[in-house]
Amino acid sequence: MLPILLAVCMGALTLLLFVVWRVRTDGTWALWWHDNYLERLRDFTSGKSRPMRILQYVQNTAVQGDANSVISAVDSYCANVEWAMNVGDKKGEILDAVVLDVRPRWVLELGTYCGYSTMRIARLLPPGARLITLEMNHHYAQVAKQILGHAGLDSQVDLLVGASFCSHSSAEEEV
Ligand SMILES: C[S@@+](CC[C@H](N)C(=O)[O-])C[C@H]1O[C@@H](n2cnc3c(N)ncnc32)[C@H](O)[C@@H]1O
Repeated sequence: MLPILLAVCMGALTLLLFVVWRVRTDGTWALWWHDNYLERLRDFTSGKSRPMRILQYVQNTAVQGDANSVISAVDSYCANVEWAMNVGDKKGEILDAVVLDVRPRWVLELGTYCGYSTMRIARLLPPGARLITLEMNHHYAQVAKQILGHAGLDSQVDLLVGASFCSHSSAEEEV
């Protein structure tokens, strides 16, 4: 009996080590691990979704009305606590450079999620310019609205809830 138990334990430990190694060395495995296990575990233990946890962190740590502070808070949360699908600080700098270079009067963003890239764009828009951002997930849109409000950017941004593709209804609602 003992040799069988030992063999099972060794097998389980080897499998665990293999998974840990793959998660640490392969992006696909890391995404799978984060989305299927860690996120569900955190949802269960916190009683909140990931976007809600990001919002809560922003509300607790970022300066109200200061977009850069809110962006830094989201970056800090996503670097130190849990991954999220924001464009992030590195690609965000490229986005900033494009907005500063083009100085658009109108911007259309497809896919708001929690409003991270929306904030990056909106804070750099020239006076009078507007950003329309479209998000098909109602929950994400509600969170983004609060994050944009905390950043003081809601007056420059029209956040629409709906999908970029049109099936039968073309009417989108504004949050
Ligand atoms: C990668 S996330 C966007 C991240 C965000 N731009 C940022 O950097 O903070 C993609 C988002 O697009 C939304 N989405 C995907 N397909 C969409 C569609 N056809 N119409 C509107 N939103 C869509 C998803 O719900 C998700 O929130």
